[in-house]
Amino acid sequence: MAKKKIKITKFGKLLLVGLILLIVLTIVGIKLIKTYKYHQTYEYKFIEAGYTLDDYNLVKDKLNDDELMYIIALEYNKNIPKIISEKYFMYKNLGRYISYLEKNKDKSITDVIALVNVNRDKPYYENLVTTDESKNEAMLVNKYHALSKKYEASDIVKVSSTYAYAGMSLNKEAYDAFRKLSDDARKEGFTIIILSSYRTYEYQEKIWNDRKNLKGEKEADAYAARPGSSEHETGYAIDVADYNHPLNFSEQESFKWMKDNSYKYGYILRYPEGKEDITGYDYESWHYRYVGVDLATKVYNEGITYDEYYEFYLNN
Ligand code: DAL
Ligand code: ZN
Repeated sequence: MAKKKIKITKFGKLLLVGLILLIVLTIVGIKLIKTYKYHQTYEYKFIEAGYTLDDYNLVKDKLNDDELMYIIALEYNKNIPKIISEKYFMYKNLGRYISYLEKNKDKSITDVIALVNVNRDKPYYENLVTTDESKNEAMLVNKYHALSKKYEASDIVKVSSTYAYAGMSLNKEAYDAFRKLSDDARKEGFTIIILSSYRTYEYQEKIWNDRKNLKGEKEADAYAARPGSSEHETGYAIDVADYNHPLNFSEQESFKWMKDNSYKYGYILRYPEGKEDITGYDYESWHYRYVGVDLATKVYNEGITYDEYYEFYLNN
């Protein structure tokens, strides 16, 4: 069968060329629009600022748009994405993290975050703010958060000699919780008693002064709070001992029990070993702070000091 020759008219040729041109232009146009749109994204701007896509993926979910724009406008700093990706990163502290890290290059980024969060980039006692006393058992009292001059501890009750050496008193809620704790500890064979509890401002002053006269200011500060800055003044803190093994509490089985169980009664180990730089105090295996069961459980599970917990979860 003879093939039929298709004849394309001049007009047909023009139409075909026009169509091809339209397709090409459409593809190019779409590409240009896509590129333009990508150039408007934070991802592109972040990469343009010197960072990698991995850096962007590290930070993108931790910042809002304004914060991202601020970072993009800052001078490139390779540590910024690592800082932002840290669990306890707080945007309000970004500038302080950067300058503290600059001055402390030996410290890890995780440590820098923890230290700055608890204000350790500022000297002790020179940057005191009045703590939020309305938080009651959750209030933070440390070398940066002091009690007001007019503060009066609430619901202070006498502690029975079954649970303490003579003359002790404590916040009632904290006392009720301690009695449960101590009764349950006895069932495990441990007699945990209170050595020190509620203290007045004047008594705390005497403790600190006595220590200062004995060992000097630096050692006094590592051992005792200055008046107005002790948890003992709130009635929510206790120092405990093992009645049957009065020395070296940290080496006793009773201490291990306290360390792992006190949170169930609302108490946390307040000045743990290895966290001296954060708490500002030498390790105190005997000092426990009542914060209530809910909060104590959260702090225990998080595995951080109360200073860190408070700043990140209650003051952020
Ligand atoms: N020993 C603790 C820090 C106090 O004096 O409150
Ligand atoms: Zn204490």
